[in-house]
Amino acid sequence: MQPTRVLTAEHRRIEQALVVLSAIVAQLRRGPPPAAVDVETLLGFLRVYADVYHHQLEERMLTEALSQVGLPERSGPVAAMLAQHLEARCLIDLAGVALVRLAAEPGVAAELADVLQSYQRLLVHHIRYEEQVLYPFAERLLPSLAAGLLSEAFARRDEQHAVEVESQLAKLAALRRRYVE
Ligand SMILES: [Fe+2]
Ligand SMILES: [Fe+2]
Repeated sequence: MQPTRVLTAEHRRIEQALVVLSAIVAQLRRGPPPAAVDVETLLGFLRVYADVYHHQLEERMLTEALSQVGLPERSGPVAAMLAQHLEARCLIDLAGVALVRLAAEPGVAAELADVLQSYQRLLVHHIRYEEQVLYPFAERLLPSLAAGLLSEAFARRDEQHAVEVESQLAKLAALRRRYVE
């Protein structure tokens, strides 16, 4: 299977987390706020699955592979991807800080909701950008994208993170039952 198809399937899981995020944002806005532990679980999923598992593999894989065919890291679609990942990380960190403050300051709920909503908008845009621009671009430029190097990178990653990812997916499923279904 083309590595970009694996990445696209992972986007569908990240979108499931964004549905939970939207429900949590709605609850933060109308009150009473959701349990802090649930927000922390959601942030944990976005840190581990969306960032460490998915974004960091895209960075290692696409940056390296595309630089080998002369595509610069500091401009064009790779630079755009890296900037969006960085922004996503910053927003998750900001949400983490707001969540800690929320325990002492109920007024922070609206701020936390705004940060989460910014993350959601960014990720919707980011996923669309990758699927419509970056992945097709990579597939055209790298006809052997599916071969050797990338398949090995996927296998190494999955081996390294299997237990943690399974646990994160189970936690996401529990959040979906609580907030969405
Ligand atoms: Fe990405
Ligand atoms: Fe992605």
